[in-house]
Amino acid sequence: MKKDVHWIDAKLVFIQTKIKENIKVHGNLFPEPASVHLNYKFGENVSWTPSFWTGMMWLSYELTGEAIYRQVIEAHLESFNQRLKLDIEMDNHDIGFYFSLSHIPEYRLNHASDSRKIIVAAADKLVVRYLDVAGIIQAWGDPDDSENRGRIIIDCNMNLCLLYEAYQITGDRSYYDKAYAHIKNAQKYLVREDNSTHHTYYFDSETGEPLRGTTAQGYSDSSCWSRGQAWAVYGFALNYLYTDDESLLETALANADYFLRYLPEDDVPYWDLYFTSGDEYRDTSAGSILACGLLELAKHLPITDERRSQYEETAYSIVRSLSEHYTTEGEAVNGFVKHAVYSIPNDLGIDECCLWGDYYYYEALVRLRKVWKPYW
Ligand code: GLY
Repeated sequence: MKKDVHWIDAKLVFIQTKIKENIKVHGNLFPEPASVHLNYKFGENVSWTPSFWTGMMWLSYELTGEAIYRQVIEAHLESFNQRLKLDIEMDNHDIGFYFSLSHIPEYRLNHASDSRKIIVAAADKLVVRYLDVAGIIQAWGDPDDSENRGRIIIDCNMNLCLLYEAYQITGDRSYYDKAYAHIKNAQKYLVREDNSTHHTYYFDSETGEPLRGTTAQGYSDSSCWSRGQAWAVYGFALNYLYTDDESLLETALANADYFLRYLPEDDVPYWDLYFTSGDEYRDTSAGSILACGLLELAKHLPITDERRSQYEETAYSIVRSLSEHYTTEGEAVNGFVKHAVYSIPNDLGIDECCLWGDYYYYEALVRLRKVWKPYW
């Protein structure tokens, strides 16, 4: 792809300047999942999102080598270590997010032996959620939680990377087998005939019988939640990388092609693919995740496959559109990318900055600018 990438440097400076301003005011604290009037409140390492802030430190440190980021990373590594030890909000699949953007980069880039142990301990915590009878990792709640028992979600595709990493570290194949069983069930049941996705799917936790697809954050049970579809594209692509199962690559490509058919004129998706025009809310975070997924997929397509340049070009135009029309550049607020949606059905973070959206926007810029080895 021969594109002008010089504008990207200015966007990287915008992000790094704002990160530093936030560090100056909030030190090693973490932003909450979504902003309020585009300003994040900062606090402790809780909820499912704090590692996206750590991930932004890692990207900044990799790009600049500046000590300020390393200092925050060190505090965050200890914070995630404590979170694991003290068992703070560990009853969910998001454990993968926590460690994929904290101790996994530390282990991969700096070969830290403490991080190696912590990654395995975190994976041990995640596999507790595995329901043998169904071959799935329950997303939310404990096994007695009647609303969430036997329920998987498409977002979990991203979190299986922690299990593959633990397998690579320990040689214990059971981590891999559980991740692989889960992703095959996700492929079979979360992906619909037309290659859109359910957000969530229920299995009978006693018998393992597949029951029904539903949504938690989308417009309806039969619509396609944009961020879920973006998690599908990126997540199936990553699972292909760890397993070499070509069918997972095919699924990721089919999910991507479905998504691209529903992108509006400016390439920034609405919060649910049910909407393709008009004044409905966008979800810029879904656009950024999709851009990262498309760039990852493009790497695995032969040069002769026309989807390769199509995906690169679409990712470029999503990120360009976000950069030109959706960032907080020039505004006195502490968030980065506007017009994201956390959850409309739960009335959370609507038309705000969302921390994962800021992270993936940054990751997408980095992916467009240089050859970058993912943390995932
Ligand atoms: N993984 C939670 C979300 O995308 O809202």
